[in-house]
Amino acid sequence: MTHVAQRARPRRNRKSEVIRSACRETTCGPQHFIYPLFIHGGGDDVPIASMPGCSRLSPAGLFAEVERARAVGVNMIALFPAVAESLKDPTGRESHNPDGLVPRTIAALKDRWSDLVLVTDIALDPYSSDGHDGIVAADGRILNDETIAVLCKQAVAQARAGADIVAPSDMMDGRIGAIRDALDGEGFTEVSILAYTAKYASAMYGPFRDALDSAPRHGDKKTYQMDPANAREALREVELDEAEGADMVMIKPAGAYLDIIARVRDATALPVAAYQVSGEYAMLKAASERGWIDERRAVLESLLAIRRAGADVILTYYATQAASWLQG
Ligand code: PBG
Repeated sequence: MTHVAQRARPRRNRKSEVIRSACRETTCGPQHFIYPLFIHGGGDDVPIASMPGCSRLSPAGLFAEVERARAVGVNMIALFPAVAESLKDPTGRESHNPDGLVPRTIAALKDRWSDLVLVTDIALDPYSSDGHDGIVAADGRILNDETIAVLCKQAVAQARAGADIVAPSDMMDGRIGAIRDALDGEGFTEVSILAYTAKYASAMYGPFRDALDSAPRHGDKKTYQMDPANAREALREVELDEAEGADMVMIKPAGAYLDIIARVRDATALPVAAYQVSGEYAMLKAASERGWIDERRAVLESLLAIRRAGADVILTYYATQAASWLQG
C-alpha cells in the first residue's frame, strides 16, 4: 500500500507559486533598504578592491549612484567619508567641521532631492589619526566621555547641514542620551537617532576599513565593540539606548547574528535595523565571481533571512542591485 495515513501534509501549501506567495510570511523590498555609500573629496570614482562594485565616489559619481538607487525605490542612503590623511588628528576635529566633506555633501544632496533620507555616521575613526572610534589616551585607552563631547559636536554639525538620521557607530557608553540632548539643545528635535546598539568586534569590517583607510593604527576595538560570544549583553545595550532616546536600534553584523536580531526584536517595540557589513558583501561577491553560488539567489536569500529574523530595516551594499532584482 502506497497510501499511508498521513493527514498533515505541509507540502500542500507549497504546491504552486500562487499558493506559496499567499502563505509567505516575510517580505523584503526596497522600502526596507538603507544604501551605504563611500564618498571622498577627489574628482574620480576610486574602486575598492575588496568590495567589487563599490567605489569611493566623487560628487558626480555619488549623484549618479543616488539617481540609480531612487529609480528602483531605494530612498535612504548612509554616507561614509574617506578623509584626507592631512585632515586627521588625535581628536578628530574634522568630524565637526561645518564645511567638511559630509556636511557639504548632505547640503548638496538635500538641495537636489529634499525627500531623500540621509543617514550619517557618528564616530571618529574616519577622522582620527589613530584610526579609532574614540580619542586614544597616552596609555592606549579609549576615552569615553571626552569622545562623547566630540560626537555631540559632530551630530549637531550634521543635523545643521540637513541630516535626517544620525547613526552613532562608536559604541561609547552614554552617547545616545548625550547626542539627543545636544540635538534638542540646538533645536534639532526632529532629527532621529539610529543607534548602533549591538555592534560586535567582528572580523567582517575589514573591507570597510580598506574603503576608508580607517583601520586602527594600533590595537583593536574590543574595549568598546561587543564580544561576539555575548547575546544577553545585547539586550542590556538595547535597554540603555532605548532609555536614552534612540529611535531605532541596530545589530551589526547581520548574517552571523540572526539570533541577536530575533532576541532584540522580542525585547523592544522600536524599529530594528541590521547591517549586512562589508565582509558579508565581500564573501557573497567573491563566491559569486568564482561561479560557486548564484549571486542573485544567494543575496536575496540573505536579505530575506535578515528580515525573517526580525529586522525592519537593512543596511546593505546590495541595496540598489537587490531592489532591481526584486523588480524582476
Ligand atoms: C566605524 C564603522 C565601521 C563600520 C561602520 N562604521 C567599522 C569599524 O567599526 O571598524 C563597518 C561597516 C562595514 O564593515 O560595512 N565607526
